[in-house]
Amino acid sequence: MSRKIQFTRYGGPEVLELVDVPRPQPAAGQVLVEVVVASLNPAEVGIREGAFHERWPAEFPQGMGHDFAGVVVGFGPDVTGFAVGDEVVGFAQRGAMADFALVDAGSVGPKPAGLGFAAAAVVPAAGATAWATVAAVDPAPGETVFVSAASGGVGVLAGQLARLAGARVVGATSAGHMHRLLTLGIEPVEYGRGLQSRLQAMIPDGLDAVIDTFGGGYVDLAIEFGVSPERINTIADHAAVQRYGVQARGNGDGMSPAVWSEVQALIADGRLVVPIEAEYRLEDIARAYIDVANRRGFGKRVVRLRPDPTSGAGVRPHSRQSRAEQAR
Ligand SMILES: NC(=O)c1ccc[n+]([C@@H]2O[C@H](COP(=O)([O-])OP(=O)(O)OC[C@H]3O[C@@H](n4cnc5c(N)ncnc54)[C@H](OP(=O)(O)O)[C@@H]3O)[C@@H](O)[C@H]2O)c1
Repeated sequence: MSRKIQFTRYGGPEVLELVDVPRPQPAAGQVLVEVVVASLNPAEVGIREGAFHERWPAEFPQGMGHDFAGVVVGFGPDVTGFAVGDEVVGFAQRGAMADFALVDAGSVGPKPAGLGFAAAAVVPAAGATAWATVAAVDPAPGETVFVSAASGGVGVLAGQLARLAGARVVGATSAGHMHRLLTLGIEPVEYGRGLQSRLQAMIPDGLDAVIDTFGGGYVDLAIEFGVSPERINTIADHAAVQRYGVQARGNGDGMSPAVWSEVQALIADGRLVVPIEAEYRLEDIARAYIDVANRRGFGKRVVRLRPDPTSGAGVRPHSRQSRAEQAR
C-alpha cells in the first residue's frame, strides 16, 4: 500500500485526508517515483479551496502537491533514459504528496548525487519560477534590482540568482528576516509603511529592474520609481500585467529538466542557498498548509516522506525541523 494526501470536496485544511491506496503502476510514458521530499506552494491552498476552479478544476478524489525529489522505482514499457534507483526531481500534477508519485517522463529530471532532497524538491516549482523571473528582467552587472517578497520561497532564490548575474539586489522583508537576507548578499529593506522613502534613501540612483513575487502594489511602486515595464516581472499581480504591460514570466517558463539541472548545479556547488523554513510529516499536512497560507517565513516549507537515502548538501538549516533533519 501507499499513503497519499487527497481531498474529496473544496474547503479548508480540514478537507485534506491521508489515505492508503494501492501502490500505483506506471503506464506508457510514465515514471514511478518514491517521493523523499515534496515541496509546499501557496497556489496549492487556492486549488484546495476551489479558488482556481475555473482554470484548474479539481478531479475528486484530488491529490495534492506538485514538485518533489525522490528515487525512481519503475517506469512504463516505452520509457527510456531512466533506471531504477535514479535520484530525480519532478513535477507531478497534484500527486507529489504521496509515498509514490506517477509522473510523465518529460516532467522528471536528474538530481545531482549528494544534493539534499529537500533543497532539490523545491527546484521544479520555486526554483524554476525564480530562474524565469530573473531571466525575464535580465539583470546586468552593476544594475540594481528590487525583489518584493525577498524572504519568500521564490523571492529568496530570485534575489540570489540576480546577485549571481552581477546585480546589486535590494529585497523587501520583515524586520525579523533582515539579517538573514544580508547573509545571502541581499540588502534588506523593511516592507510596510514608509517603504518607498526607505527604498529611495537606499537607491538614490534609481532601480533598473523589479521582480515582484508578492503583488499588492509592488508593481505600482516600480512604475512610480520609473522602471520601464519590460524590466518589471510579476508572478502575483495579474491586474498589473494588464494595467502596465509588465512581464509575467513564471513557473511555466522554467518548466524543463534543463532549467532544473542548471538551478540544482548552483545549489550543489554552494552558490545558491535554499533556506528551509520548516519540514513536516505527511500526517501533519493540514498544519503545513495552514502555515503556508499565513505567508510568513524565510524560504521554503516542505513535507518529508522519508529520510534522504544519501547525505545532502545545499540546505542551510536553522529551524526546529531542519535541525531535526541535521540530526538524521
Ligand atoms: N506565476 C507563477 O508561475 C508562480 C509560481 C510560484 C509562485 N507564484 C505566486 O507567487 C507568490 C509568491 O510565492 P512564494 O512561494 O514565494 O510565497 P511565500 O513563500 O508563501 O511568501 C511568503 C513571504 O512573503 C513575505 N511577505 C509577507 N508580506 C509581505 C509584504 N507585505 N511585502 C513583502 N513580502 C511580504 C513573507 O516575509 P516575512 O516572513 O519576512 O514577513 C514571506 O517570506 C504567491 O502568490 C504564489 O502563488 C506564482
